[in-house]
Amino acid sequence: LSDVQADITKVLYTEQELQERLAVLARRIETDYEGKELLLVAVLKGAVMVLSDLARELKFHAHMDFMAVSSYGASTQSSGVVRIVKDLDADIAGRHVLIVEDIIDSGLTLNWLIGNLQSRGPASIEVCAMLRKPDAVKEPVDVKYLGFDIPNEFVVGYGLDFAEDYRNIRGVAVLAPHVYGGEDPHA
Ligand code: PRP
Ligand code: MN
Ligand code: MG
Repeated sequence: LSDVQADITKVLYTEQELQERLAVLARRIETDYEGKELLLVAVLKGAVMVLSDLARELKFHAHMDFMAVSSYGASTQSSGVVRIVKDLDADIAGRHVLIVEDIIDSGLTLNWLIGNLQSRGPASIEVCAMLRKPDAVKEPVDVKYLGFDIPNEFVVGYGLDFAEDYRNIRGVAVLAPHVYGGEDPHA
């Protein structure tokens, strides 16, 4: 196993900072969805930490469902080609759907997903994303609940991976260039 700490140049957000921001978003969600039945839809695998923490922060019932889509293939760059690897278990027609994501990078994944889910006739559809890289966005996403805007750096942790590693770091950190070969991941 590699020494995880040696692979990180700096911590952008600690676990506590993420939790505090999520709590603020959760209070807004509670107000906005008062008297409604909320379905949280998480996009595997990166969104599992946000989904888990957000769901437990909410004071009302929040049902959960999961989708897995493939957008990056083998590359670290988004291809724009999205494929459903695992679809939702349930029909979302007439339901209030909140898509939960760890990060909006190019925006291609979420734009595709919003369009796909919209065609199924939900009562409403909104997005909650913990992170967004404004300088990397190619297709802007209408995100109602956003954690933080971050610089266009290679970040890992809190669900975010590099080649499936580092997802289980508690905070969000910048990956050291020596790990991925030093090239700009978005070049
Ligand atoms: C990552 C991340 C988002 C998406 C954002 O997922 O979790 O889902 O990329 O990128 P985009 O805005 O450029 O589309 P990834 O495809 O790496 O799968 P993972 O969640 O399993 O890591
Ligand atoms: Mn993802
Ligand atoms: Mg990934």
